[in-house]
Amino acid sequence: MKNLVILISGRGSNMEAIVRAAIPGVRIAAVISNRPAAAGLAFAADHGIATEVVDHTAHCSRESFDAALASAVDAHAPDLVVLAGFMRVLGDGFVARYEGRLINIHPSLLPSFPGLHTHRRALEAGVRVHGATVHFVTAKLDCGPIVIQAVVPVAADDDEASLAERVLREEHRIYPQAVRWFAEGRAAIEDGKVRLSGVTVPAVLGCVPGLEEA
Ligand code: GRF
Repeated sequence: MKNLVILISGRGSNMEAIVRAAIPGVRIAAVISNRPAAAGLAFAADHGIATEVVDHTAHCSRESFDAALASAVDAHAPDLVVLAGFMRVLGDGFVARYEGRLINIHPSLLPSFPGLHTHRRALEAGVRVHGATVHFVTAKLDCGPIVIQAVVPVAADDDEASLAERVLREEHRIYPQAVRWFAEGRAAIEDGKVRLSGVTVPAVLGCVPGLEEA
């Protein structure tokens, strides 16, 4: 059984997708938020999952917040720490502590559009495809080894909200898949890239017309 700790800051729909996937061999040990008002906390509690808040506003330095967060996380002995809409940048010490067992979902096809406002920037750039990426977290923001990506088309009449919604639907498919692969021991980091072994689902999902639906 693999213990997961999921870190959220808000809505928590990716966390919800992972919980609902009920992945064999995975136990969600806790959902931890840096914001007391995070809506996702109620969903987790309703599903019998331990919840906790480590409020970043109670800490005057990143180091102090990271240390408090790490001790809350470690109390659940996680095999995997899952960032699911966790909106704080974590310091190098925190990232190093969970090396190889810390993953994130980012709403763009990395390495395009790291950072914030990805949908707006994708529309401004006029890209034809956009998407989401699950990756291992490394010290450089939104830059770690890629596990799985999802591709969506950008429509001529898209605005930020419609594009975000299309991407989010795919996020809810790829994040549970990435966790499943991790739990099955199928995702290994080699030379800075993720090598998948014995997988039957493609490592890129999506819904671009003309491309095969996975
Ligand atoms: C998602 O788009 C995720 O990719 C990004 O933040 C958003 C969080 O949404 N990191 P939710 O809280 O999982 O609903």
